[in-house]
Amino acid sequence: MSLVLRFPEYRQQAQRMADAAGFPSADVDIHHFPDGESRIRLPEKLPEKVIFCRSLNQPNEKLIELILAAATARRLGAKQITLVAPYLCYMRQDKAFHPGEAISQRIIGELLAGRFDSLITIDPHLHRVHNLQQAVPVEQAITLSATGVMADWLAKQMENPLLIGPDEESVQWVAAIARHNHLDYCVARKERLGDRSVRVTLPEGNYTGRHIVLVDDVASTGRTLEAAARELVPHKPVSISVLVTHALFFGDAQQRLHHVGVEQIWSCDTIPHPTNHIQMAKLLAEVIGEKQ
Ligand code: R5P
Repeated sequence: MSLVLRFPEYRQQAQRMADAAGFPSADVDIHHFPDGESRIRLPEKLPEKVIFCRSLNQPNEKLIELILAAATARRLGAKQITLVAPYLCYMRQDKAFHPGEAISQRIIGELLAGRFDSLITIDPHLHRVHNLQQAVPVEQAITLSATGVMADWLAKQMENPLLIGPDEESVQWVAAIARHNHLDYCVARKERLGDRSVRVTLPEGNYTGRHIVLVDDVASTGRTLEAAARELVPHKPVSISVLVTHALFFGDAQQRLHHVGVEQIWSCDTIPHPTNHIQMAKLLAEVIGEKQ
């Protein structure tokens, strides 16, 4: 049976996954030295199969620590090392948008594939690359979707909302949730003018008197959702809510959303955040259980 290894900032979520799968678990002990280096310590005795569970938001330090941990697990006798990274970093930089830019997706993918045998993640932001294994060439790359669990959650919150995806890339998630709950949906058009500057154009439609739920995979600065909400307000919907998979929500993103009239923000626990309402433990447990 695999041992689940928990990192400090994602301990509760990893524990829930281990409990749901009925797997034993242990902590990865991390000490940060004053100079910024990390010391990693694992249980001295490891079984052949180990699962590291760590979400890769704010990833730079976490990636180095993961590489140290995986190499140490190998030295301690682990033969099959799985990474469960509910949020997978560096997936959006999948090409050189400007000459000279790093294609980070490929570079980080190869780094992880060099250390882990399997990868399990949830709704990675794959746009031009359609297959997780192309981005992270591990032996076994498993993509799960949170949309079913999100749809079940939403069904308990409100009746017959209209779902809106704020940009063309969100169609896969908004359509999946709408299909699951037999809801109407549409998708807006987005122009990104800069990291914190976004213009959203809504499709023609009747938004008045509707409960609106904006659905996206990632909320980073929150400007995409904010721009969509701002466009909706003049149409006088009954309410505007946000349902998002990966809640990065940097800086004042959450406050800004409430400021433009967003009432509820619901996110999955793929990234620890106060808006987490939707747990991924069962979804992840099913697949780690099947891999035994
Ligand atoms: C990109 O297409 C993603 O689906 C999100 O829409 C984007 O990452 C959101 O970024 P931000 O919250 O910074 O507008």
